[in-house]
Amino acid sequence: MLSQRATHFADAPAFLNAAGKAFADPYDAHTNPNGYINLGVAENVLPQQLLVEKFSQIRAKVAVDPVDFRYGDFCGSLPLRKALAKLFSSKIFHTPVDPNHFRVTNGAGSCIEMLSACICDEDECIMMPTPIYHGLENDLNRRFKSILLPFPMKLVPLEGLEYRFDLDFDALNTVYEQSIKQGKIIRGLLNINPSNPFGTIFEEDQITQLMDWCLERNLHFISDEIYALSIFPSSNTPFVSAIQILEKKNWKQKELIHIVYSFSKDFALNGVRAGVLYSQNEQLLTAFSVCGYFTGVSFDTQTLLASMLQDDTFVDHFLKVNCELLEEVAVKSETLLKQHQVPFVKAQSGMFIFMNLLALSPKQNKTEDDEKRLWLQLLDDKKVYVTPGFVFKSPIPGWYRFCISCTPFEIIEMALKKCVEAATEFQ
Ligand SMILES: Cc1ncc(COP(=O)(O)O)c(C=O)c1O
Repeated sequence: MLSQRATHFADAPAFLNAAGKAFADPYDAHTNPNGYINLGVAENVLPQQLLVEKFSQIRAKVAVDPVDFRYGDFCGSLPLRKALAKLFSSKIFHTPVDPNHFRVTNGAGSCIEMLSACICDEDECIMMPTPIYHGLENDLNRRFKSILLPFPMKLVPLEGLEYRFDLDFDALNTVYEQSIKQGKIIRGLLNINPSNPFGTIFEEDQITQLMDWCLERNLHFISDEIYALSIFPSSNTPFVSAIQILEKKNWKQKELIHIVYSFSKDFALNGVRAGVLYSQNEQLLTAFSVCGYFTGVSFDTQTLLASMLQDDTFVDHFLKVNCELLEEVAVKSETLLKQHQVPFVKAQSGMFIFMNLLALSPKQNKTEDDEKRLWLQLLDDKKVYVTPGFVFKSPIPGWYRFCISCTPFEIIEMALKKCVEAATEFQ
């Protein structure tokens, strides 16, 4: 017999079971043409060749240091933290940063889990604007039992088939006040900028307002900025980090602002498992260091990442090429959606497009149940895995996220055509 905790750990969410099918039987034009096309996973294979070359070069050039075979500060070797400080000060925060304010963890997911455990006791809440990246609930709740408290964003129609989801401060205040009345304890708010699932960039004044709202209430503000360096070249909204805003506003409560980052997205290194915390909260940093044994990154990997970041020419070239490749597939995907009259959120960054596939169905009064049924039809009949809006806690049914960088565009095109076919016939 196992513990109650083990029962909770083993209770996988529905989307993980579905993703499991797609992972177990992947499509391949030659060897498995009847397999699943997986557009649910947030991966970027587009710049892989550059990484293969760079990593092979580092392996050949950088001597193995026996220090890497020993115990040490799993939360970030000094060379890696210094390299991160350079990257963040020059490209993300645009202000000098102290290497001692970084902690390295085995992925951003693990960093968010640890952050939530440090900010909340069991059953305490972190607010988030929804739709939001579906992994967060797992990060908060699976082991440390913090609660994701959603407040819905509002859908704004733009031109033609284009839409945007905006922060809704009325919804934020309503959910906050109702929750406090119900006795819930709210410790912080987490926002993802640039966004997952939309790939949009929040305007600086929106983030300033959100941070101000949190600080007025003494709440922690967590900014997940793991797509900060995946901005499309033609985006007309500049990305502004929460740290830039903190500096500009000169707020005193620096210990309430935390940044989450990762090598998984901007550097397309999901499998390497390296995430980053930036915070000026000394107690939090110490908690991360003490628990670093559980969330640490292998020193061999830390050396590899530090060597990569130390090469400015490579970093500049890689990021530029990656952003160009991402925009190219985004534009092609949007063109296809327009051809088929599918409404979508116009992305400015990252690796996703959020589309309203259910809009194609002739059915009246579409519900979340319809969204689920269509999702399962896509999976079981069309063998296409996209991520449905309900897992992002979308307040409006019918939306699905697909990843534009996880496979060559011809396969995305084929999968989207199958999605359109199924949605058009859906009753
Ligand atoms: C916004 C966001 N945060 C965190 C993560 C987790 O990233 P990692 O692979 O570093 O754990 C993801 C992964 O998709 C993400 O999109």
